[in-house]
Amino acid sequence: MTTSQALFQRASRYVPGGVHSSTRFQAPHPLYFSRAEGPYLWDVEGDRYLDCTMGNASVMLGHSHPDVDEAVTAAVRQGLTTGVETEAAVNAAERLAGMIPDFGRVKFANTGTEALMHALAIARHTTGRERVAKAEGAYHGWLDPLWVSTWPAPDQLGPADRPAAPPSSAGLSRSAQGTVVLPFNDLAATERLLRKHASDLAAVVVEPILIDIGYIPATGEYLRLLRDLTAELGIVLIFDELLTGFRVAPGGARQVYGITPDLTTYGKAIANGYPLAAVEGREDLMATTDPSKGGPVGWVGTYNGHGTAVAAAAATLPLLADGSAQAYLDVLGAQVREGFAELSRRFGIPAVVAGAGGHFQPYFLTGSPTGYRTAMVSHAARYAALHRVAREHRILLPAKPLLHAALSTAHTETDVAALLKAAEEAFAEMRSMT
Ligand SMILES: Cc1ncc(COP(=O)(O)O)c(C=O)c1O
Repeated sequence: MTTSQALFQRASRYVPGGVHSSTRFQAPHPLYFSRAEGPYLWDVEGDRYLDCTMGNASVMLGHSHPDVDEAVTAAVRQGLTTGVETEAAVNAAERLAGMIPDFGRVKFANTGTEALMHALAIARHTTGRERVAKAEGAYHGWLDPLWVSTWPAPDQLGPADRPAAPPSSAGLSRSAQGTVVLPFNDLAATERLLRKHASDLAAVVVEPILIDIGYIPATGEYLRLLRDLTAELGIVLIFDELLTGFRVAPGGARQVYGITPDLTTYGKAIANGYPLAAVEGREDLMATTDPSKGGPVGWVGTYNGHGTAVAAAAATLPLLADGSAQAYLDVLGAQVREGFAELSRRFGIPAVVAGAGGHFQPYFLTGSPTGYRTAMVSHAARYAALHRVAREHRILLPAKPLLHAALSTAHTETDVAALLKAAEEAFAEMRSMT
């Protein structure tokens, strides 16, 4: 029995499925890890893996980055954990303000889910409305109103121009059925739905690039429509930049598209793997959370602005600010893209890699998808072969066919070559698959 198997047996006595986040489960058992450095993870067997998942893409500078480690270690030595304000939290807020165009005001939370909950509370209070709209297939965390239509099954989709809102988990509040699901990149249908439901809608939440289903950019026209229409209809526009934030540009997707939403959520790369998230937004909206002015929207949390997390952010953000990290990741990303394109041609298997900022997604399709419905038909068995062969080569890719892989600035061209070598073997296998 391997050490991972033994740990799984021990864990399963007390922990359902042996995992603390359902997506970590992999049959027959998850791997258990003991160490990480740079682009590598070591499992409890002592085997080294090239990590192309990087803490759900949060570890953009590589595991155990020396500057981040030093800042966190210093915070630990100071002995402060949580429950008080610190200079590091001020530093982190200032760093963000220096990176994000049209920066308004910011407050920290711990996770993306919490940040979205806060943002929705601000939107509901400000508009006096209840419902929210989101794009089909998009993931924004596990809060009730947004945890619908994430990776829906084909029989749950509903009509293309007014998608259904199937729950992505049991146990959601019934109110989640009221979420309006928008067909991403379909301007006419989105406009129709927003106008129809405007009087009930507090917020439109959108990832400017759908990264939890690979890498699907909104067209500039689509985001412009959302911006103009929400302004006209009095709906709060929220960009979820948990994954685009700091990877696609130092100022995130808003910088790339030149469009400023009312509120934005950040997390993940903000603190290189430490638990920090943020809501940034228009001064008047964020003022609703200002306790010094009697702002009526509560903003509380034992761990908010935790000493180690804000220290990590204050050390991480300067390393992401000048664009060189993103440029380096785009060079590696181009090598992955071109490598897969060559394999696709050589083996006659349709495949396309989409991505930027170190995110990459191999789709087994003839062209890049424009929304969930065109992405979900990616050949799952071919992706499964790629995932399995990569794992045999000790390379970790996401197990789900529609998620997103991620590189860090600690990855090198040699690592990309190792990935492409494994991919070559997988493509050879795919040729004999039906
Ligand atoms: C785009 C996006 N939004 C929100 C979330 C939720 O963040 P968290 O897992 O920190 O709650 C995620 C997490 O994967 C995400 O990818």
